[in-house]
Amino acid sequence: MVEFRSATVADATRCAEIYEPFVNNSWVSFELNAPDTAEMGVRIAKALHSHDWLVAEADEEVIGYAYGSEHRTRGAYQTSCDVAVYVDSDHKRQGVGRSLYEALLPRLKDRKMHAALAGIALPNKASIALHQAMRFELVGTYKEVGWKMGGWRDVAWFQRLL
Ligand SMILES: CC(C)(COP(=O)(O)OP(=O)(O)OC[C@H]1O[C@@H](n2cnc3c(N)ncnc32)[C@H](O)[C@@H]1OP(=O)(O)O)[C@@H](O)C(=O)NCCC(=O)NCCS
Repeated sequence: MVEFRSATVADATRCAEIYEPFVNNSWVSFELNAPDTAEMGVRIAKALHSHDWLVAEADEEVIGYAYGSEHRTRGAYQTSCDVAVYVDSDHKRQGVGRSLYEALLPRLKDRKMHAALAGIALPNKASIALHQAMRFELVGTYKEVGWKMGGWRDVAWFQRLL
């Protein structure tokens, strides 16, 4: 059975493990260096303070996570946030990503978030399908805004009002 709960800094190692292949082997993440446990712990603590960070757990192992973070720094953007979700490759397509978002989005609304945005580096069929299933709408596509793994990468931005 999969359970969902708020993350703690103690989840940093597993979250970093789940995230690492998306940094090192794909352009799903635009980061070029995978964060270590310490850095992931800092990110979890920051997200818990300002937005939220949830983990999915099965057999006492974290198998996925989702969080909200600041969209832009300027003041009027404070009710907008970015969201992201990552599921361990052995547990994809089992409803984990959807359940994480179903838990996360109401919590972000409770914290006065009004707009949730997701930037999806293309192509990423699974992420686009998940966001559409979660009633995010395509806003537009930034062309060639990233250079990773030897090529220019586009980012499609999706939005859902909470
Ligand atoms: C995108 C991701 C989070 C989806 O998580 P998941 O747990 O596998 O997704 P779910 O099982 O909850 O799927 C929910 C819905 O999303 C859609 N979906 C998910 N994966 C899909 C795929 N590979 N192909 C088509 N549709 C897909 C389906 O509509 C699905 O509903 P259904 O299973 O009832 O048809 C996961 O594939 C992942 O971690 N990908 C790599 C990281 C990533 O891209 N994160 C998003 C960054 S923007």
